[in-house]
Amino acid sequence: MAVGVFDSGLGGLTVHQAIAARLPDVPLVYLGDNAHAPYGVRTADDIYDLTCAGVERLWQEGCDLVILACNTASAAALRRMQETWLPQDKRVLGVFVPMIEALTERRWGDNSPPREVKVKHVALFATPATVASRAFQRELAFRAVGVDVEAQPCAGVVDAIEQGDEILAEALVTSHVEALRRRMPSPEAAILGCTHYPFVQDVFSRALGADVEVYSQAGLVADSLADYLERRPEFIGAGRVSKYLTTGDPRRVSGKATQFLRSPITFESA
Ligand code: DGL
Repeated sequence: MAVGVFDSGLGGLTVHQAIAARLPDVPLVYLGDNAHAPYGVRTADDIYDLTCAGVERLWQEGCDLVILACNTASAAALRRMQETWLPQDKRVLGVFVPMIEALTERRWGDNSPPREVKVKHVALFATPATVASRAFQRELAFRAVGVDVEAQPCAGVVDAIEQGDEILAEALVTSHVEALRRRMPSPEAAILGCTHYPFVQDVFSRALGADVEVYSQAGLVADSLADYLERRPEFIGAGRVSKYLTTGDPRRVSGKATQFLRSPITFESA
């Protein structure tokens, strides 16, 4: 039994960590497509092809259920995968919906019509491809009315994190927050819509100030996976071994992962 966790690179490790803490008995196979990161500057077709290839690789590890721990893949590829590509006996779940359900105070499966919610001004920080897809606004509109969303495409941040350049990542985050504030001076909530961003969450929080509630996905996705597996235990899959795979250079990727998570992680070649 194993569940797959996929990301373009290191960011999905933030979700992987939360899942491992929430479901310690479920083996997890992580795949980072570091050879092709960042996805956020690629076309939707390119993201779709790379994501399908990554998910197929995880099937080979006995993972019938794969979490796309990547907003860019969830935004640009997931719907097309589910509608045109995914076999009946496999599942791929994204990271968007659990966060939007939290923001709109809904429980899983609550399909009632959109309604007024507490937050009215939301700042979204995400990759250029995620922002361009407008997937966040589309999913939000199914559940809430009257929410003003201002999205900031955070060019360069994923690249800086993948390179292990924490100083550049911090400088870019600060300038992206300033840019957003010029268009929306007082957001009530900020969504970190990229799984790489929790690595620099304190920089976002500092730049946004104490009045802004920062939503990050890892814990929300882990809770929603636990809920899903309780209802559909057959999707835990046939694999039994936990491992970390990368399409990049395993030594380099292990070093960067260890740097960001501040605990040793060893990647194998995918
Ligand atoms: N962690 C991915 C996300 O959540 C980063 C995408 C990228 O590689 O640009 O969007």
